[in-house]
Amino acid sequence: MADVKAEVLEGLLGPAKTLHPKYFYDEQGSRLFEAITRLPEYYLTRSELEIFDAHLSDISSRVPGQSCIVEYGSGSSLKIRKVIEELDPAAYVPVDISREHMVAMAEALARDFPDLAIYPTCADFTDTFALPPPVAGLTKVGFFPGSSIGNFSPADAVGFLQRMAKTLGAGARLIIGVDLKKDPAVLEAAYDDAAGVTAEFNLNLIRHLGEVLHADLNPDRFRHRAVYNESLGAVQMFLDVRDSHDVLIGDRLVHFEAGEAIHTENSFKYDPADFLELVAGAGFAEVAGWTDRKGWFSVFLLEVAG
Ligand code: AVJ
Repeated sequence: MADVKAEVLEGLLGPAKTLHPKYFYDEQGSRLFEAITRLPEYYLTRSELEIFDAHLSDISSRVPGQSCIVEYGSGSSLKIRKVIEELDPAAYVPVDISREHMVAMAEALARDFPDLAIYPTCADFTDTFALPPPVAGLTKVGFFPGSSIGNFSPADAVGFLQRMAKTLGAGARLIIGVDLKKDPAVLEAAYDDAAGVTAEFNLNLIRHLGEVLHADLNPDRFRHRAVYNESLGAVQMFLDVRDSHDVLIGDRLVHFEAGEAIHTENSFKYDPADFLELVAGAGFAEVAGWTDRKGWFSVFLLEVAG
């Protein structure tokens, strides 16, 4: 809580206000994200599932047996279930900072896959962490779906993937989902849907932080905005201040000026060739790649280069 307050204040007291996207995901935020994945405009989840349905058997044929799947973030149970069914791994290691959600998911999986050894690992996967000792002898298959890699800047993505290559070890594979560059109108609609669910998701960050920090942060004083920044190659989300006001956070008074923006998220989009160049810089080589029929989303099978 002291850390949260310090980090939030640092983001709000600088000249360009910013809040970290990890604060989206309290219980309500996770529920809203689930709702986003079912929106007609949010094609990412559907496109990735289309790729899994068409190509998981192909992916499976290129992965050694008796493997250990390491999932970075324990997200949608639908995806990991499909992967476990097809790859038939010996072990599964979900890595997530939020223990509760991860343990509930692991318990449900254990009921349906009684022969699978499951080792929930509570860690910030963006940091260095150790894999559980019992999986030491197994070939690792990293699983990082959903274009979560898009939340990192390309430079940070390289550093993160380098740590991942080191954690997974030589000969390991990585199944990674990446959202692709496309018509900005399609991109912007995906982050500013007609039903207003993404707006609610973005504004929930204000409500959540108000609750955690015991501050009078009021979502009604902000407006959701999403724009594709072509030169950056990212959809950027902001909360625009509707009317000027001040909020006491801890012992600091934070001023919000009408029209001022708080930056809350970047979702980077890639061309396949650019993404492969990026992963090569982190020590991964391409084994194979697939896209959905529209060519909007890509799943790559990569290998830690020896
Ligand atoms: C979970 C980070 C992949 O960037 O598309 C969805 C989060 N933000 N709508 C994304 C998100 C707004 C999502 N990721």
